[in-house]
Amino acid sequence: MASAPALRVTDASRVVHNPGHGDAFTDHMVTMDWTPAEGWHGADLRRLEDLSLHPGTLGLHYAQVAFEGLKAHRQHDGTMAVFRPRDHARRFQRSARRVVIPEVPEDLFVRAIEDLIVADEAHLSDDPAHSIYLRPMVFGTDPSLMLRPSNTFRFLLMAFVAGGFFGKQVSGVSVWVSREHSRAIPGGTGDVKIAANYAPSFLAQRAAEQAGCQQVVWLDAVERRWVEEMGGMNLFFVRGRGKDAEVVTPALTGTLLPGVTRDSLLTLTERLGYRPREERISVDQWRDECRQGLITEVFACGTAAVVTPVYQVRDVDGDWTIGDGGPGPVTLRLREALVDLHHGLAPDPDGWLHRIG
Ligand SMILES: Cc1ncc(COP(=O)(O)O)c(C=O)c1O
Repeated sequence: MASAPALRVTDASRVVHNPGHGDAFTDHMVTMDWTPAEGWHGADLRRLEDLSLHPGTLGLHYAQVAFEGLKAHRQHDGTMAVFRPRDHARRFQRSARRVVIPEVPEDLFVRAIEDLIVADEAHLSDDPAHSIYLRPMVFGTDPSLMLRPSNTFRFLLMAFVAGGFFGKQVSGVSVWVSREHSRAIPGGTGDVKIAANYAPSFLAQRAAEQAGCQQVVWLDAVERRWVEEMGGMNLFFVRGRGKDAEVVTPALTGTLLPGVTRDSLLTLTERLGYRPREERISVDQWRDECRQGLITEVFACGTAAVVTPVYQVRDVDGDWTIGDGGPGPVTLRLREALVDLHHGLAPDPDGWLHRIG
């Protein structure tokens, strides 16, 4: 990243110095309810507190739950900016529609985020590796175990201070190709962000860890050969080197989540003079092109992971290493470009930064 000027810290006593990922919650949350008569109403910024729920809350039993994940970053001038909140709002609406939940209007979604960031800004230190991760979610609240959509819903917005998903390292992760489990099926829900997609992924992630890897790679569920995603992240492959490098990501076939980071990186790839491509890539191609030296770098991306190099793959037929096993130059260049943009240190021609304060 370009040299960062000194950043503002508003309240040292609130700052979390070594956040991991997911449990350094901030102090507040926003709640809002939906009823057939009133629609979305009663948005309320309040202290983060436990919920009181009927044990038969429908959303808990049948996973009528949609969620999002986006980040706010400290800017070089001390203000805060949220990255592409309207894109996340629209994906949240698509996810909600898929599980028969009423959409939260874009403006309400953005206003809730603004209110929470203003209330909890003091949690964020001047460490540019830290950010505030925002988690909007919505679930069916009917106290009923009838197998049908809920008639009432609650929206919650909470936040935590994020360090790095994989710690501060950019050294890379090893991945294990899951041959047994699928993340998504055609006609299913892989292209939306709903809770029901994630619990079933835990077992494959555990198997990856038991195989000595940090993450699981998902293949398509039909032919079991096309590479789709890695854990909760999109994947990119770099073919060739230098300015002529082709930066390839699996095409959105309906079973991949259209990541906001993926979309940002496709734009940045072009802006930096590399050649972006969206195409299907098989696991055999991945292995063979690595062995032939055609694929030189691989990385995963997402709001949580930003850009994380992948250095080794473990599959039933053997292992292979990507490039020289270290983070490659195109990966690092793209990562730097994205992180600079997050912090307001690079031009923002597409208006991705939503400034607050
Ligand atoms: C399955 C899956 N793929 C990819 C991503 C990356 O998406 P984004 O870049 O919008 O965070 C996520 C995270 O939301 C995810 O859960």
